[in-house]
Amino acid sequence: MSVMTLPVSERVAAMKGSSTLIAAQMAGEMRARGIDVIDLSVGEPDFDTPQFIKDLAVEGLAHGLTKYTATSGIAEFRTAVADFYRRQFGAEIPVAEIAASCGGKQALFNAACALLNAGDDVLIPQPYWVTFPEIVTFCEANSVFIETLETEFVLTAQQVRSAITPRTKLLIINSPSNPSGRVVPPSEMREIVEACAERGVYVLTDECYLFFAYPPSEPFTLATLPDELRRYVCVAGSFSKTFAMTGWRIGYTIANETWTKAMVKLQSHSATHPTSFVQYACARALADGDAMLAAVKAMTGEYERRRNWFVPALNEIKGFRCAMPEGAFYAFVDVREMLGGEFASSADVADKLLTDAHIVVTDGGGFGADGFIRFSYATSMENLERAVTTMKAMFGIKASASN
Ligand SMILES: Cc1ncc(COP(=O)(O)O)c(C=O)c1O
Repeated sequence: MSVMTLPVSERVAAMKGSSTLIAAQMAGEMRARGIDVIDLSVGEPDFDTPQFIKDLAVEGLAHGLTKYTATSGIAEFRTAVADFYRRQFGAEIPVAEIAASCGGKQALFNAACALLNAGDDVLIPQPYWVTFPEIVTFCEANSVFIETLETEFVLTAQQVRSAITPRTKLLIINSPSNPSGRVVPPSEMREIVEACAERGVYVLTDECYLFFAYPPSEPFTLATLPDELRRYVCVAGSFSKTFAMTGWRIGYTIANETWTKAMVKLQSHSATHPTSFVQYACARALADGDAMLAAVKAMTGEYERRRNWFVPALNEIKGFRCAMPEGAFYAFVDVREMLGGEFASSADVADKLLTDAHIVVTDGGGFGADGFIRFSYATSMENLERAVTTMKAMFGIKASASN
């Protein structure tokens, strides 16, 4: 049978596939061939969803929550998010400014599509999470990257100020960051929003790693800003990483009422709403804040323990250099010192790890940072130790580390 050529829309044709999903796929294929892979490309928790949340989903089903809900989500869900942010962060958010979405990704998509016109400029700090520029491309807007290498991947208000032009409509930020794991300090975040608001630029903040900020950093949300600043901000929130619920597909937006209404209108013609009994489970779980926070604390404690071992161990490997990430669960390693001889690019280093050691990592190129490699530590200590031992044997140990 001949394959029909579909005239794929220009907007979709212009988008790139997700390089992070490609790495995960590669690991899956190798595993299927019986290869013992060490997968350090994963962008999801290795923990299971806490049992009490699963039980609440079953309870939701038993209560007959099997039908359509309001597009913006059930009232209990929206109220539970508002109450949680009040208790946890002291933020006063009207329920009308909260809408449920199918994960953080749809929250980001809704927010960008509801705001952007063709030709608008969107500021994106570089390195960036792979999806940001692709959403911008879909909206026929232009990604304008802010290089943050000089400030070790921590965006500053000064960098934002210098990048804003009359064409700038939106800034997309992500702290704690995927891929760098770096955290922008709260005072700087506020100044960044001030710099944007002064010039009428909106801010879309991807807070999916909100709770994964390790001491002395603390979870910080732009939802706590005063109203005059917050009206420029859309928070894209997610249950995926925080509560180890990536497969459940649930998130939310917090944005001014006009922005929220536009997003809900868009969602009414796409996904409609996230799964009814999942909304119920999340609403009930958030209402029991103590249980939720205990679950998050147990997971973040373990990520922190792994980070504290893994990052110094990576820094002992010849050619690797990695600043201590303050959040998320990624180490973003500078391998530029290794380039020029056997390796022309960081992608070659990643390829060598894959082919010779069956270690799956994500090359920085897809994040706009050639010369860097992202290692996820959302995996067991045993895997991290095996990977480090193998890489030390492959690349050698720094003289300073071998004493
Ligand atoms: C920075 C960032 N934002 C958003 C998402 C997507 O989250 P969700 O599963 O809630 O759609 C991810 C997932 O990897 C991410 O790393």
